[in-house]
Amino acid sequence: MYLKKLKLHNFRNYESLNVTLTKGINILYGENAQGKTNLLEAIYVLGLTKSHRNFIDDNLIKKNEDYLTIEGIVNDKKLDNKLNIYIDNKSKILKYNNDTIKKISDYISIMNIIIFYPDDLILIKESPQIRRKYLNLELSQLYSNYFILINEYNKILKLRNDYLKKINKGISKDKTYVDILTGYLIDKSIMIYKLRDKFINKINLYCESIYKDIMNLDGFKVVYNPSIEFDLKNPNLKEYLKQEYDKRFEYDVKILSTSIGPHKDDIEFYLKDKNLKYYGSQGQQRIAVLALKLSEIEIFKKYKETTPILLLDDIFSELDDKKKNNLLKFINKDIQTIITTTDLNNLDKKLIKKSKLFNISNGNIIKIKEVKLDE
Ligand SMILES: Nc1ncnc2c1ncn2[C@@H]1O[C@H](COP(=O)(O)OP(=O)(O)O)[C@@H](O)[C@H]1O
Ligand SMILES: [Mg+2]
Repeated sequence: MYLKKLKLHNFRNYESLNVTLTKGINILYGENAQGKTNLLEAIYVLGLTKSHRNFIDDNLIKKNEDYLTIEGIVNDKKLDNKLNIYIDNKSKILKYNNDTIKKISDYISIMNIIIFYPDDLILIKESPQIRRKYLNLELSQLYSNYFILINEYNKILKLRNDYLKKINKGISKDKTYVDILTGYLIDKSIMIYKLRDKFINKINLYCESIYKDIMNLDGFKVVYNPSIEFDLKNPNLKEYLKQEYDKRFEYDVKILSTSIGPHKDDIEFYLKDKNLKYYGSQGQQRIAVLALKLSEIEIFKKYKETTPILLLDDIFSELDDKKKNNLLKFINKDIQTIITTTDLNNLDKKLIKKSKLFNISNGNIIKIKEVKLDE
């Protein structure tokens, strides 16, 4: 799929913008603080309804304005579809082909986006919460039911935790109710575990060779690390998990929350037996995240029979020439890619030749060069 047209109104430093992108490679260049990242962010918000930066939505609205709109025409399997998002201080309205969409789950699997940006290192370095958020978002783009599943899981988890608090305070004594909730929780958990496990397995089909192609190092893998050990093939998995929850019941009452489950999952990145979180160089970590994201492209191709839109924010400036060239192999006209850079000299001339170029200056966009499609 690709984003054909993008229209912005009052989005960060853009008062209004109307741009036609190419199906292949688009390069946005311009000095710092002109709006390059903002434009990628607008595309991300259009597809996924939230920013990839951890800001609250209000900051997305242009200073001194009360609302913003983002509109895009997304072409998928030769069909044009219109996505539209309106945000003000109180509300967010999502539209698909002019129909208002009430359920986010129905919306976020429409336009598939993979983004890579300098702060992405946090995916390796920071807390597991960030990695779970990543897993949830990617899986929601792949399967719209996953988003519903996670929401249901969170609701039951909250009920269970609230009840644990009541038991702790002596307001309730009835463990049967906890057991019922635990049963529901386990049903959902198994579904989540299976989808996450499947996703990581698929990632591992591709990420080692991608990592090797860029870094020339063997043995990269992503490891799914749930909070307790289990075997997804165990026919008595449900009973087994029930026992695990039972073992921790007293403890859970004491800490007023549920100590195991998908909300405690993590993923880890290894180079052979070296955990990159602790022993990886900045460069190794950066490429690990990149390899993860590039692997996802293959998964989208297989499972959704479409390519996602790839957003690369300022990634070439941090890489040496050799890695830059290795990475270029993965950027081709078969997948719509939008790249930002402050300096065109950071990019390979051949790449520039086959790209559509835009200059970004103070919230304005100027098309510099159209691509000739036969190139
Ligand atoms: N809500 C907003 N209203 C107006 N301007 C904003 C808003 N949020 C950010 N900006 C401006 O956007 C600019 C940064 O844009 P950004 O896309 O991050 O730049 P870069 O081109 O370096 O990627 C800054 O000048 C900042 O003041
Ligand atoms: Mg930027």
